[in-house]
Amino acid sequence: MRSIFLTCILLAGMSWASAQRANYDVVPQPKSVRTDTAQVFTLRSGMGIAFDNNDAELSRTAGFLCQWVEEATGIRLMLTPDDKQAAIRLALEAPAGRKVRKSVKVAPPTEQQLEGYTLEVNASGVDIRAQKQVGLFRAAQTLRKSLPVGQTQSVGLPFTRIADQPRFVYRGLLLDCARHFFTVDVIKQFIDVMALHGCNQFHWHLTDDQGWRFEVKSLPRLASEGSVREKTVIGPGNMRIYDNIPYGGYYTQEDCREIVRYAAERYINVVPEIDMPGHMMGALHVFPNLGCTGGPYPVAPHWGVMRDVLCGGNPETLDFLKTVFGELCDVFPSRFIHIGGDECPKDCWRKCPKCQAKIEELGLKDDGRHSPENQLQTYLNHEIEQFLASRGRSLIGWDEILAGGLTEDAIVMSWRGTKGGIEAAKQHHRVIMSPNVYAYIDHPQLKDYSRQPRTTDSYQVSCSKIYSFEPLVPDALTEEEQNCILGVQANLWTEQVAFPEHAFYQLLPRLAAMSEVQWCRPDQKNFEDFRRRLPRLEQFYDRLGVQYCKQVE
Ligand code: ACM
Ligand code: ZN
Repeated sequence: MRSIFLTCILLAGMSWASAQRANYDVVPQPKSVRTDTAQVFTLRSGMGIAFDNNDAELSRTAGFLCQWVEEATGIRLMLTPDDKQAAIRLALEAPAGRKVRKSVKVAPPTEQQLEGYTLEVNASGVDIRAQKQVGLFRAAQTLRKSLPVGQTQSVGLPFTRIADQPRFVYRGLLLDCARHFFTVDVIKQFIDVMALHGCNQFHWHLTDDQGWRFEVKSLPRLASEGSVREKTVIGPGNMRIYDNIPYGGYYTQEDCREIVRYAAERYINVVPEIDMPGHMMGALHVFPNLGCTGGPYPVAPHWGVMRDVLCGGNPETLDFLKTVFGELCDVFPSRFIHIGGDECPKDCWRKCPKCQAKIEELGLKDDGRHSPENQLQTYLNHEIEQFLASRGRSLIGWDEILAGGLTEDAIVMSWRGTKGGIEAAKQHHRVIMSPNVYAYIDHPQLKDYSRQPRTTDSYQVSCSKIYSFEPLVPDALTEEEQNCILGVQANLWTEQVAFPEHAFYQLLPRLAAMSEVQWCRPDQKNFEDFRRRLPRLEQFYDRLGVQYCKQVE
């Protein structure tokens, strides 16, 4: 009896002791981790985080780290400029000096290397070093995720040396705020969650048939009227049963600037999308003269692909688009601007005298690969590409922009599988892979649809499915072509997702699976190992108070 009692105490003691230890088995897994679990540095309240306090950006990251340590463990650290007193030291370092003969050219660091960092724990504490501020932030996130979650007096940090950098430069997540509107506060939570997973591109889907959500100051009715649909279809699929409740909401330019600022502080770029020339019912409702038939057009109360699109032959269409993209560029500093381009049926264009006259004027002929109407879409894309280039930006479009021939600098976001991405990479265009069967997290994550909230329901996109995705498609692309793949993105469309709790449930933990596709090299990836590391990350979801699916398939 006594020995059972002692064993229980010993076991309890062991679990207590191990609970107070940091563990570097984080998600996404760093590139290299060499840990000596026999030795620890003990972190306690009152210890310092040192950094150059003349550096405001570094000071902000140090502040985040201080906050995260306290949130996770209750340990209160102090910010200090004094290295000697500090347990954690954050510092920028010059690129490692390599002695080379003058004649030898040294390749400049890649963007991935510039996001890299080292994190070393030894008897004198924690040293975090990076060439760029972003690297220090990523390192601080790794240290955060290594901490045990729960109030404690001290944490033993096993000695380690972590050297890390992401695999891809573009690590995106799309949130559709057109089908359903999410408040600025919810979007900030999204951005916090993205930062926790090392994502760096927030693709903000701002306009669609069901609502225009970006304030254009010179066209104020777009937001005030184009954002409101009279009712919303309810029920699964596209059954035409409506709730008869008006639904609206839009982001002022101030809101957008606030999101851009908040994201930038977390080293996330905001890629805004204005979807054109299809998915435009919000705008057509306000400006029916921009449609081929003249309307009237309701803001769409149901989902799907609408037949009515912007008229490709009306010169006012381009004036309108340049006004919109002009204000978009004023608000969003992103070097990437998304112009949509998907699902634009050409029925109206085929019948429209203005569209046909424009096709005639431009001399667009069916060349066996590209119909004249698809080429007319390319003409619009080209005009917008030139406009964006004059503002120093590059255009991203969904893979339908291949149909009329790509414009010179277009970046293709491949969503209908990887086919479009492969075709674009073979043409040496930059590509972001976001294939629906691996990346559409509006789909169910569990096999049993009845055990989860309603979703888009044609196929399952499980964690393991996402995890298995290899974005470079080496079977189809040469090494040179693979260099065109900038990265990977998960997309959360929200036809069926009306509330933040549901959105986070759809997102998590699938974003964790996607984050390893985005961050880790294939030889590092192992789904069973990912599953083993996931529960520790989920403790952070709990801390952040966000919903997630508790089952992983
Ligand atoms: C898309 O899912 N229509 C890009
Ligand atoms: Zn037309």
